[in-house]
Formats: sequence, C-alpha cells, structure tokens
Amino acid sequence: MANPAPASFWTQANALFRKNITYQKRNVKTNILLILFPVLLCVLLVVLQRALDRVQSKDNDGNNCVNKSNNEGGANWYTTGDVSKVPVCAVPNPPQWPPFFQLPNLQFSAFQTNILPFSDLQQNKCRAHDKCALIMLFTASNFSFAQSVYGNMFTSPFHIDPTDTMGSLATNVLGTETVQVENIYLEPAFAVDVPIYYLQNKCKLNSTFSITFEEGGVTFDDKEVRCIQCLRLWRNSSSDINSELYQGYYNGNTKGQINEIAAAFDLLNSNENGFNVIIWHTSTKRSDARSINLISNAYLQSVVGPSAKMLFDFVKEMPKHWITSKIDIGSLLGSLLYIWVIMQLFPVILASLVYEKEQKLRLMMQMHGLSHGPYWVISYGYFLTISVIYMLCFVVFGSLLGLSFFRLNDYSVQFVFYFIYINLQISVAFLVSSMFSKVKTATVSAFIVVFSTGLLAGFLSESSVSSSSLPTWWTIVMELYPGFALSRGLYEFADSASNGDGVQWENMTDSTSGMIQVLIIMSVEWIVVLYVAYYIDQGRSPLSFFKRSRKQHSSSTQKLSIGQQLGYNAMVHLQKPDIMQEREKVEQLLLQPTSNHAIVCDELKKVYPGQDGNPEKVAVRGLSLALPQGECFGMLGPNGAGKTSFINMMIGLTKPTAGTAYVQGLDIRNQINEIYTTTGVCPQHDLLWESLTGREHLLFYGRLKNLKGSALTQAVEESLKNLNIFHGGVADKRAGTYSGGMKRRLSVAISLIGDPKVVYMDEPSTGLDPASRNSLWNVIKVAKQDRAIILTTHSMEEAEALCDRLGIFVNGSLQCIGNPTELKSRYGGSYVFTITTHLYHEKNVENMVLQFSPNAKKIYHISGTQKFELPKGEVRISDVFRAVENAKRHFTVSAWGLADTTMEDVFIKVARGAQESIDLS
Ligand SMILES: *[C@@H]1O[C@H](CO)[C@@H](O)[C@H](O)[C@H]1NC(C)=O
Ligand SMILES: *[C@@H]1O[C@H](CO)[C@@H](O)[C@H](O)[C@H]1NC(C)=O
Repeated sequence: MANPAPASFWTQANALFRKNITYQKRNVKTNILLILFPVLLCVLLVVLQRALDRVQSKDNDGNNCVNKSNNEGGANWYTTGDVSKVPVCAVPNPPQWPPFFQLPNLQFSAFQTNILPFSDLQQNKCRAHDKCALIMLFTASNFSFAQSVYGNMFTSPFHIDPTDTMGSLATNVLGTETVQVENIYLEPAFAVDVPIYYLQNKCKLNSTFSITFEEGGVTFDDKEVRCIQCLRLWRNSSSDINSELYQGYYNGNTKGQINEIAAAFDLLNSNENGFNVIIWHTSTKRSDARSINLISNAYLQSVVGPSAKMLFDFVKEMPKHWITSKIDIGSLLGSLLYIWVIMQLFPVILASLVYEKEQKLRLMMQMHGLSHGPYWVISYGYFLTISVIYMLCFVVFGSLLGLSFFRLNDYSVQFVFYFIYINLQISVAFLVSSMFSKVKTATVSAFIVVFSTGLLAGFLSESSVSSSSLPTWWTIVMELYPGFALSRGLYEFADSASNGDGVQWENMTDSTSGMIQVLIIMSVEWIVVLYVAYYIDQGRSPLSFFKRSRKQHSSSTQKLSIGQQLGYNAMVHLQKPDIMQEREKVEQLLLQPTSNHAIVCDELKKVYPGQDGNPEKVAVRGLSLALPQGECFGMLGPNGAGKTSFINMMIGLTKPTAGTAYVQGLDIRNQINEIYTTTGVCPQHDLLWESLTGREHLLFYGRLKNLKGSALTQAVEESLKNLNIFHGGVADKRAGTYSGGMKRRLSVAISLIGDPKVVYMDEPSTGLDPASRNSLWNVIKVAKQDRAIILTTHSMEEAEALCDRLGIFVNGSLQCIGNPTELKSRYGGSYVFTITTHLYHEKNVENMVLQFSPNAKKIYHISGTQKFELPKGEVRISDVFRAVENAKRHFTVSAWGLADTTMEDVFIKVARGAQESIDLS
C-alpha cells in the first residue's frame, strides 16, 4: 500500500475533534455539572432573594407589618410590639413624640472639686441625696444681655392639659437621660421605665407628676415626670467653658471625678438686633433641635416679651415605603460570587491542558503527526464552546429568574464583555499551562488564584474604583490583571443595575463608567497573551518571529563542530571494523541522496550540559547508522547506555548537540513535523487516554495518519485482530480497564497504524505473557517487511527473533554491529564448558581441561562448579566427552555441560569489555 500523503490541517483537526467529542461524551456528567454550576448558583440566589422578600413583607400574612390604609392614621408598623420589624415595614404615618433635651447621666452631675474649682458649682453632698441640679454654662460679650436671655429659659410651671397632652408638654422643656440609639419610631424615654424630667429654675415640693401618653398605637400609663433644677452659670469666655467641659467630661476610670455638664451656650455678640450663638450639647442619635429651640425661645422672649413663644411641638420620622424590593441579592452579593463563578472555568481549562501534558498525551499525538495548529484550533475551540455555553446558561438563567444584574444591562454589552473575558481567560490558561507539569499543582494553584482574586477584587479594586482618590493609571495597572478587569466590569454592571438604568452602549462613554477602558484592556491583552502562549507552546521564544534569519547561520557553525569531532571518533573506531564499515556506508549514502534507506544517522551526538557543578554528560557520542527499508534494528545495551537519548533525538523530543539524522531523507533538525507523518512510536510507558477505548485510540491515530473511510476501518480492524485485542469485546472497553499487557499491545498497534515507514519501539514486549508476546512478534515480523524498525529490548530472545541486525550500545557509542549469528561467531568463538565436582578435585578438572584445550580460560569458579571458555578452533567435541567419561572414573562429577555461546554471553562480554576500556582510559 502506498504511503498516504501527510494529513492536512483540517484532517488533523477533524481527527482531534472527533477524539475530543468521544472523550467529552465519556465525561458528560462532569460537563453537565460544570455547565449547571451557574444555574445552581442563580437558583440559590433566587431562593435567597425570595426568602429575604418573605421575611421583609410579612404584612401580607398579617403577622408583623400592618398594611393599614394611610387615612386610618396612627401607627402602621407593628401590632405585636416587635419594633425590629420597623426597618422593613412601610411607615406612612410615623408617630409624633415630644422633643427631648438629652441629659447626661444625672448621677454624675458636676460639683465643685479641685478639678473644677468654681465656687458657683454645687457641693459634693448633692450626690448623696440624689438631689443634684443640672449645670448649664453661659458666656457672651454682653453680660447683662446674656443674663436677661437665660433668665427666660424656664418660665412656665409644669401643667398638663389632658385633652392636649402633646401641646401642653411643648410649653415645658423635657429632658431624659435615656439615650437614643436608633431612629425615632419609638421614643425610648417613654418605652424605658425611667422618669422623664422637666427643667425648672427651682423645684417646688410635690413636683413629681404622672401623665398618660398615647402614641404609636400604645398607651404609656402613669409615666413619671420629675422636676429637675437647672443651674445656669456665667463663665468669662468660650475657652473657659471649653476647658471646664473637658475637665469634667467622663473619663471612665475614676468614678468620683466625672463631672458632667448638661449644655453650654455662648451668645457671642448677640443683642436686640441680632442673634448669634454657639451651643455645646450632649451628643447621641437624638436630635440637638431641643437645645437650639431652648436658647432661641429664651432670646425671643427677652427681646419681644414673655408673650412671644416659639413652641417646639413634636418630632417624627419621615414617612417611608416598604423597602422590601430595595435589597437585590444579585447586585449585593453579586460581584464576589460572580467573579468566582466566571473564573471557576480557569482551573478546569488549566487542568485539562496540563493533564495532556502530564500524561505525555500531547507528545504522543505530536509524534504521530499532530501539529500545533490543529491542536490549538480544536482545543481553543472546545474551551471557547464550553465557556460560551457556560456563560449563556449563567446570563439566561439569571435573567429568567429576574435578577436585575442581568436584566437591566444591555445584553449585547454583556455578550461582548463576557466573550472577550472568556477568550482572555482561555489564552491565559494556555500561557500558564506551560509553567506546570502536574495536574494537582496546577489545579490547586488555580483555585487559590481564583479564590484570592475574588476576595481581593471585592475588597481592593471595588473600593479603589468607587473612591476617586486613586489616579487613573493605578486602576489601569490593576485592570491589567484579568481577574481585576473582570471584577471592574462586573462592578460596572452591578452599579448601573442598582441605579436602575444598567450599562448601555450610549452611557458607556460616561467619564464615570470604566467599561470602555476594561473592554479595551482585555481585548489587547487577549491578543498579546494568545500570541505569546502560541509561541511558547511551540518551544520557541515569542520573539523568534523576528529572528528567522539567524537560523541558517547557526547550522553552518554546527557543521564546523562536526568536523572537529572527526579526529576523536576516528581514533575510537579504529579498533572496530564493523563500526567503521557502518560509518563508511553512511558517508557513501550521504553522497547519493536518492538512496532507499529509511534512516541514516550521521555522527549523531548528544551532550547534556553540566548542572549544579556536575560535569556535562555525554549521552550519545557520534552515532553513525544506516537502516534500509525492511530492516529491524535491535538496540541492546545496559540501562543508562544512551538508547533513550538516541530515540528521543530521533523522534524530536530533544535536539542533537551535533550531527544529524535523516528519516526518509528528511532532516530531524528542521523537518521534524514532516517526519512525524511517516513515523510511529511505541513509547516505553503506555500513553493512553483512560476513558477512550482501544478502537477509539486506533481510529484517532489512523485519522492523524490521513486514513479515511473504509481504509481507516480496515486498518483498525486489522490491527485489532493482529494484536489479539479483538476478542472478548476488549476493543470497546476503556483503556483504563486494560491489563498492562493489553495496554502494551495497544501501544504497539498505535505505532503501526497508518503504515508508517519508520517505527520506534521502546521495549515493546515488557509485561506480556508468552502467548501475547508471540503474537506481538508475529505482527512485528510482518510489519518489518516494508518499513524500518528500531527496537530496544532487554530480551536477547526477542532481539534474536525479530532483528535483522543488532547493535550493542554501551556508554554512548555502538560497540559492535551485525546480525546475531555474525556477532555470536565474532564475540563468542568459543564453547562454554561447565562442570561441577567436589571442591577437592578442582585442580584435577583444570588439568583435564587444559589437556583437550590448551588455551581454555577459566571464567568462573565457585565451590566446585567451574566454567571454562574453550576456543572453537582447538577443541573437538568428542575429545571433551571422552575426557569427561575418563574423569568420572577417578572422581565424582555431579554435573557437566557444554554449550555454544548465546547472545547473552556476547552482550555481557561486549558490555564488560567496553566498561573495562573506559576504566582503563
Ligand atoms: C448690653 O445690653 C444691655 C441690655 O440688653 C444694653 O442696654 C447695653 O447697651 C449693652 N451694652 C453694650 C456694650 O452693647
Ligand atoms: C471673670 O472676670 C471677673 C472680672 O473681670 C473676675 O473677677 C473673675 O475672677 C473672672 N473669673 C474667672 C473664673 O476667671
């Protein structure tokens, strides 16, 4: 069958696409879960929103909020006294409360001490009697004017008109120690069981009253109202007042020294024509309006007369609506959760990319002819499809569930934003995947990045975006990191959605909107990252595009260095005519390029540079080898001899340090991609997809080798049958369930599919049972007829059975080369004579051996068993038999044997010889 043309870009893409589809079908559960993740999240958000709405609008069930119509008046905000519902219930008519003057803690009312040495202050003993007065301080530029003002503060005696409690309370100045902490739906002075005070110049006897007050739908019965005296003291200046307030102010440590002053006023330059005042008051959430009214009213009365009154009737909150719908979970939790959801694809993509790298599957595909272009197109396309579906689910479900984050923003803006972002994310994953070799590390790192990006973006970028304190360049620098760009975009969506208008194309150019900026940054980044990732992936520097011209130059210097190597190599090869011969053959072949040789290695050399102070390691020292079509070359050699380095160079995993090789006339240094289409590789370790079946593997690699239609099916069926994978439906079971032997056979089948002209098999029969091994051998025997095979093995039996020629490779160079019979006669020109006697007779045996073979060499002796090498030329086998029979009469011979040399003996001899010559040098 003619070798098919190399697979085109689209054939490769098609092969990979079909394989991926099958692969993804197997992982359908994971994929569905992945895509449903945003749906689940949206459902969770909606459930949360509903639950929140329910809690907020209990009114419909008549539980907490009371949905009375506005005209009914009064309190609409609770029936059971649960004030905590107030913040979420509508309040059309808030209750009215008398305005209160905030009193400090009366227990600590100021008295005269060495800290406050003012003679006009009250005495210490007032505290013991619980009869301390309030202290107010005054100053002004005109003493007599100020005196007339503050004399008018508490003029009316306490009086309650039961028909108008609120109105009559307004003619008094009410005070309370109770602190207002929240709003004034409920005046705590009434709700708490402590007395209310009314301020007077002097308290009379029986000055305590009780009132009934009804407000907010509740009646407060017998509320105690006590008189409290208010001392108003003159101070010379504002700064005197300030220092006195400061000295007396609660310091928390020494109880006896707290001297609190209720309020202080500075009338400044006020007179009949003008009113100008500074007020110091005790600060809580309670409005300070009462102290303003107190001083203003006193001023009015002193200027106009006692009939003029400025009454402060009540205070109340603004009416308010239900605030139920105001809390939009989507926009509130939004950004953080959304960042996590969208970025969640990143670890998935990264893990998938690193998986193919870690399992060397990418390499395997590459070695069978898959080039970078189709791999990128298909992988990128796949990730993009998944991402688009994922984001569609996210947005569609979010919208269906009515989250305004999705509904209010223009869908085309959302599409463009998410589309650019997911492309950027995929490109970054491709770029980052080149830094990882383990899926676990990659996944863990990616999740840490996603998690921390979400948190950081939530707390860092949003606050810096919303505060205008940071310069624009700073936000741009932050947005260069894709996670922050995403968060900024989401922030814009959420922000606009909560304003009610959403991001539209029209309002995107607003100076406050960062959307345009984010879109531009992400688009540019996407293109740059994609470009860099593509070049790094090909093992090239991203700048190599600009450095094309340097290539020629470097190859000419390489030729020079080969020439320099010649002297050294020639010296080594002098002693080995077979190696020399092979070299000459190679040189001949290089002169006539139209040879039919499949592989020609020309002084191939590999040196690993020294690392961490170790000297450089020479793995392959100038290897010359020529393989015609139809030959199987067996490469034998101890572990670490350099076989794998050699194969790695041949299949393009590493570059040769010097020299080169031609596969089908193509140079491995710069035509490796073309070479891949005509080579098959069976790696030492099986590189298979756990979830694909044997048949699917073969179909994929067959397509990569440009097999189509019936030719493909036929090739797959044939190789399944040949390798015994066919029976028992094994071909359609997942490779993950295969035994070691099955996997091995599948790997061999893969290396042979598509009729490659050159096949490398690295220990193909390891782990096979004898029956499978024999069928594998048969396949290889048939396969080698029209192709060249390089096979490494540790089994001499296999080497002899399969290989036309063998080369023993020790310490980086071939020690010998030839067909098995040749090698055996060359290195094993002797018989091996083994004999076991009593230890006592060892010397007798040795003498006997020297008699029939004077040049015999003892190679081994241990407790009576001895092994001799007898040169074939001087020994006659009949002599040996006779001698042993003769010997048996004199002493006991437990066992003896005479054997021709095996390949194993040759191997050991050659390997040892080579080792010794190295040790000598
Ligand atoms: C101070 O006030 C009194 C009475 O209000 C007024 O008669 C007097 O002229 C004022 N003195 C000055 C210096 O303005
Ligand atoms: C306030 O001023 C008057 C008269 O100028 C003076 O007698 C008095 O000592 C001053 N009081 C204080 C506390 O400085």
